[in-house]
Amino acid sequence: MSILVGYASKHGATREIAERIAEVLTLAGQHAQARPVQKAGDLGGYEGFVIGSAAYLGHWRKDATAFVMSNRDLLSRRPVWLFSTGPLGTQDTDANGVDVRAAAEPKDIPGFREAIHPRDHHVFFGALDPGKLTFAEKTLRKLPAARAIMPEGDFRDWAEIEDWARSIGQQLTQVDAGPAAAAP
Ligand SMILES: Cc1cc2nc3c(=O)[nH]c(=O)nc-3n(C[C@H](O)[C@H](O)[C@H](O)COP(=O)(O)O)c2cc1C
Repeated sequence: MSILVGYASKHGATREIAERIAEVLTLAGQHAQARPVQKAGDLGGYEGFVIGSAAYLGHWRKDATAFVMSNRDLLSRRPVWLFSTGPLGTQDTDANGVDVRAAAEPKDIPGFREAIHPRDHHVFFGALDPGKLTFAEKTLRKLPAARAIMPEGDFRDWAEIEDWARSIGQQLTQVDAGPAAAAP
């Protein structure tokens, strides 16, 4: 099947995740391409979508949100998987026992669930390279409240990313086979 892995990335971490997902899907026999959402072009030829964005200040990047909402009619009729790249660190739960991924779910996701009924939304840990930050981001990061939640480092778990992509590949195989093939 022809699959678009559309992404919105400010500093590159989400782009690299999208590219890895496309590679895994290609190895699984799908025709997958990773592209920035604003360069996705005509969506009519795609039979499935993986769409991801970096999270900034609790939200997806604006171009990714606009992509989902402006294509909601088409996306609601195709299999879609969403991912967000966000929390920084290595702990699955914080000091209070709160699930870090669940807490980091961007505020846009409930609206996407309603609009396009994605098959899944997955939060991946992200990466922060101080050398890539804008002046405003560096200033924000100096605030005491930001320091603890914005450590420097690459926290992406490539095994987790590849597992998630492989599970999408398996589900696409079932979609491709259709209900007739699934019947006993
Ligand atoms: C200014 C700033 C704000 C951020 N806000 C959030 C946030 O609200 N939630 C979150 O989970 N991660 C947040 N992050 C972490 C980024 O999402 C993470 O660094 C991500 O990997 C960036 O992806 P990109 O390189 O594709 O832009 C923030 C990072 C920066 C620098």
